Parts: sequence; structure tokens; C-alpha cells
Amino acid sequence: VYVAPNALSALGEFVARHLPSRRVVMIADQQAYELARARRWGGFDWSSETLTFPAGEQSKTRESWAQLTDALLERRYGRDSGIVGLGGGVAGDLVGFVAATYLRGVPHVQVPTTLLAMVDASIGGKTGVNTAAGKNLVGAFHPPSAVLADPAALSTLPDRVYLGGLAEAVKHGLIADAEYFSWIEGHIEELGRRDLTALTHLVLRSVEIKAKVVGEDEREAGQRAILNAGHTVAHALERATDYQLPHGDAVALGLVVESRLAEQVGIAPAGVSQRVVALLDRLGLPTRYGGALDQDAVLEAMQGDKKNRDGAIHFALVSDIGRPHRERGWTVPLMSTRIAPALNVIR
Ligand SMILES: NC(=O)c1ccc[n+]([C@@H]2O[C@H](COP(=O)([O-])OP(=O)(O)OC[C@H]3O[C@@H](n4cnc5c(N)ncnc54)[C@H](O)[C@@H]3O)[C@@H](O)[C@H]2O)c1
Ligand SMILES: [Zn+2]
Repeated sequence: VYVAPNALSALGEFVARHLPSRRVVMIADQQAYELARARRWGGFDWSSETLTFPAGEQSKTRESWAQLTDALLERRYGRDSGIVGLGGGVAGDLVGFVAATYLRGVPHVQVPTTLLAMVDASIGGKTGVNTAAGKNLVGAFHPPSAVLADPAALSTLPDRVYLGGLAEAVKHGLIADAEYFSWIEGHIEELGRRDLTALTHLVLRSVEIKAKVVGEDEREAGQRAILNAGHTVAHALERATDYQLPHGDAVALGLVVESRLAEQVGIAPAGVSQRVVALLDRLGLPTRYGGALDQDAVLEAMQGDKKNRDGAIHFALVSDIGRPHRERGWTVPLMSTRIAPALNVIR
């Protein structure tokens, strides 16, 4: 994973180095591709070797996968081809899945252009698409050959999309590195104006943290669960609101509820959740739901989560800032009656 401001100006060389002697095709979301052309990322014209798909989550489907793989077959890309995926997490997951399955798998390079894709989606090798039954239910593990993250690309991101990436960075500090958490607390202003030096540090540190966790548990047998901090609640909030709540907002609220929960069940000392709330708030992320929250719907959505067995709901909790809690496993099973009080903090 390479992180450097303005690295996209040398995208062509980067791709040639990491996909040597391959016939390279770029697959990008339409919006990211327009940006790439306007800003001359890569230093040359990709138009003859580019496929695009409409930007947005609604493109993460088997239909898009079928269209893209058909287009590759039609253009006779062989086993000696390589794919560059350009865009946010949607491009990462969809293009990664195309690469994982095309002619039983060809190598790919990921070029994440959203903060979420840089700090989260491009690390760990998970690729896939959504189905009517739920998100990310069909996919494959197919790590990219290389990732190129250019923090300068983030200047054009809409605020809400940018903040969504920051929520995941706060999560990384919370689960793995108290010093990093403090560093974010001390760089609110720089992060607010998307200062390149601050962003480069943020992306690098988050990548290191996620890569370390994933590297120790590639197939999600245990430790990788800590990356799910805040997400048991976040996913339930998303489902209960029919995905009207942006993922980053849901993660922020999830971190608030789950750090409070850790205090309530006696795993974390008092004060942890207050520090989480203060940091998210100063970054501009929500710490209250605002509006009427249907608690039963949220609890029900948690019980339906694919990661939950035995009627209890499993949480990846922290025992302090920077310290994942581990007892018998990496998650703590709790019954819904214990969770309801913690949900009150985001009312
Ligand atoms: N594989 C994983 O481990 C993993 C982890 C986390 C999230 N994800 C997935 O990531 C997806 C969300 O990713 P996302 O938030 O990046 O969404 P996204 O890919 O839809 O990008 C958000 C929007 O930003 C636009 N955009 C991209 N780069 C831009 C730029 N530089 N300037 C301006 N606009 C730009 C895109 O065109 C899109 O409209 C979800 O599908 C989620 O499931 C995957
Ligand atoms: Zn997330």
C-alpha cells in the first residue's frame, strides 16, 4: 500500500510496476473516471482501455458484475490481463470481485479515491456485491497486488462522504492505538481543512492498523472481529432506517453506543464513551440520532445480523481507548435487555 500526496500523477508507472507485462484495463465508477480525466491522473489517456459503471451503491450488484465481465470477454482480455479499480469502496468491492472471478482470477491494483476506501475498503482483500437478501453476501477474498492512495484526491469529496472515512479512522484509534486516537484529537483543525500532511499520516496509520489485524486473521476466524467495533449497532441502525442513514453517521453512533455499553457492563472504565463522543462531535460527526429512534426495530435488526449466533448479540468492545477487549473470544455476547439502556445515549 502506497500513500503519498499527488501520487496519482504517476499512476501509469505505478500500474506498469505492479502489473508487469499485462494488458491492463481500468474499471472505474463514472464520477471517479470524470475526475481522473479532468485532473489528468496517470499522466495519460486511459479512454481506450477503460470500462465505467454508474457511481453509487446501486451498482454493487451481480448485474453490474455480469455486464463488466461480458465486456471484458467481448474485448478478449485474456489470462495475461490485469485490472485497475478506480473509485470509492463500491469500485473496490465490485472491481475486486470482477478481478477475483474473471477467467478464475486475474491480478488487480486498487486506486481508492474516497477516504473510506483508503482507510478501510481497499485493505483486507474482501470483494463482493450486494443481493436482495442483504449487503456483501456474494463475494470472494482477492487481495490486490498493490494499492495506491493519494490524499490529494480527497479535496473534491463531499463533506458527508469525507466524514464517513474519519469515523472509521476514529474506530481504528479506539480499537488499537491510544496514541493515534490522541493524535486525531490534536489535529481536528488540520483534518477539517483536509491538510495533506495530516491526511497522509491518518491514512497511513489506519492502513497499518487494519493491515495488521487482517494479516493476523485473513479469513476472519477471530481477531478481525475487532474491526467490527461500533458496527453491530451501525448495521442495525442502517437496516432499521432502510439505509437512509449514511454509513459513516451510523458508525459514529455505533461507536458511541458500544463504548457506553462497554462501560455499562463493566468492561471499560467510566469516561471512555465521553471521550469518543467529544472527538466525533468536534470532527462534525453525529453523536445523537435526532428524530424518533425505533428501539425495537434496532434491536430486532441486531438479532437478524448474520454474525450473531445463539440468540445473544455479539459485540466487539474495547476495555479502554486503544485496547480491544478479549476474554474467551474477541466478541462479547449480550442479550437484548442489556443493550436497550445503552441505545438511550444517542437519543
Ligand atoms: N471490502 C471491504 O473491506 C469494505 C470495507 C468497508 C466498506 N466497504 C464498501 O465500501 C462501499 C462504500 O464506499 P464509499 O463510501 O467509498 O462509497 P462510493 O464508492 O459509493 O463513493 C461515494 C461517492 O463518492 C464519489 N467519489 C469517489 N471519489 C471521489 C473523489 N475523489 N471526489 C469526489 N467524489 C468522489 C463516488 O463517485 C461516489 O458517488 C460500501 O459498498 C461498503 O460495503 C468495503
Ligand atoms: Zn464501516
